[in-house]
Amino acid sequence: LEGISRVADLDASKLTITLSKTLKPIPKDETLLFGNIMSDHMVVAEFDPEIGWSSPEIKPLGPLSLDPTSSCLQYGTSVFEGMKAYIGPDGEPRLFRPDMNMARLARSAERMALPPFSTDQVLALIKQLIIVDRRWIPLSSGYSLYVRPVVMGTRTGLSVVASDRATLCIMLSPAGPYFRSGAKPTVSVLAVSETIRAWPGGTGEHKVGLNYSPGFLPLRVVQKQGYDLVLWLWGDDMKVTEAGAMNVFVVVARDDGGLDLLTPPLDGTILPGVTRDSILALAKAHTAGETTLPGLETQDSQRVRLHAQERAFTMAEMVQWSTEGKILEAFGAGTAVVIASIGKIGWKGKDLDLPVHEGLGPIANAFRTRILDIQEGREVWKNWSLL
Ligand code: COI
Repeated sequence: LEGISRVADLDASKLTITLSKTLKPIPKDETLLFGNIMSDHMVVAEFDPEIGWSSPEIKPLGPLSLDPTSSCLQYGTSVFEGMKAYIGPDGEPRLFRPDMNMARLARSAERMALPPFSTDQVLALIKQLIIVDRRWIPLSSGYSLYVRPVVMGTRTGLSVVASDRATLCIMLSPAGPYFRSGAKPTVSVLAVSETIRAWPGGTGEHKVGLNYSPGFLPLRVVQKQGYDLVLWLWGDDMKVTEAGAMNVFVVVARDDGGLDLLTPPLDGTILPGVTRDSILALAKAHTAGETTLPGLETQDSQRVRLHAQERAFTMAEMVQWSTEGKILEAFGAGTAVVIASIGKIGWKGKDLDLPVHEGLGPIANAFRTRILDIQEGREVWKNWSLL
């Protein structure tokens, strides 16, 4: 916390709570989609360069008052996180690997030169807000309470400089299926090379609002062509990077009977997703015999050998593998969706040959089932699901 040693750090013990006088009705789980309903309360704290972080407040969710010259409005100094809370079989709320989101939030804020804060204090505030609004945590499997912390620059004036003022706001949103395809999400993607999501030296590995909004127009263009999402590429060799707002995985048959599970490496252009990291860790544990992924045991109880690899791959390789019938599955992974099968990949006016699955392919389904079991507390794995 270099630079703010003379001013107050964020301090969750100074939290004041003002409850809403009118509580909203809780929607039925089956009516929930993603991110269109918010809970009753929010956390707000403000950073002033002379004083430091204000005492945080929990108060009824409502509009913030921002000067129109605020840095976040003029220059997009806004970073966020996405994580999910669940109720476990013990009836207690839990979060999935929140330390990873907190570390990423601090890195994103630093990349945008926003004021620093102690992430353990942000996490303490998230937990307090979840306790206040715990009736909003959906109980059905596949449903959760999405937690959206955002740190926005609130320096006023038009100078093109770092924002030395900021507002932290934490919101909660009960969440169901991210895509219309529902509980077994399947999407189609169109690979584009005209617009680029991220490039070396840019902000692709950070959770900044500005990584997302430049993708809205390309998204509209691919949707007009009948695809759900953009498959983002990078470089003259057309490396596959991400699918929509998800990390991307491909399962390719190897000559030795095993499977390569490929995802692009964290070279600075790829968002270091928590679900991405969890898939890689579970795949390695499965192949090492430390765990067994559901459905990935063969009849003679040999496990399907998954060779998880973070390595770059190009559209030319994708085309070659698909022509050889070697692509068994492709899927996207993210906190919001968990895992979605990619059923169709368009490229240069054609669709790649991919196997057709009812709902999710077996590998995507194995990871989705296992990750939901851990997130929802039915299974314990390495302290990933924390109270
Ligand atoms: C995620 O949480 O999976 C995402 O990154 C998508 C999002 C920004 C809602």
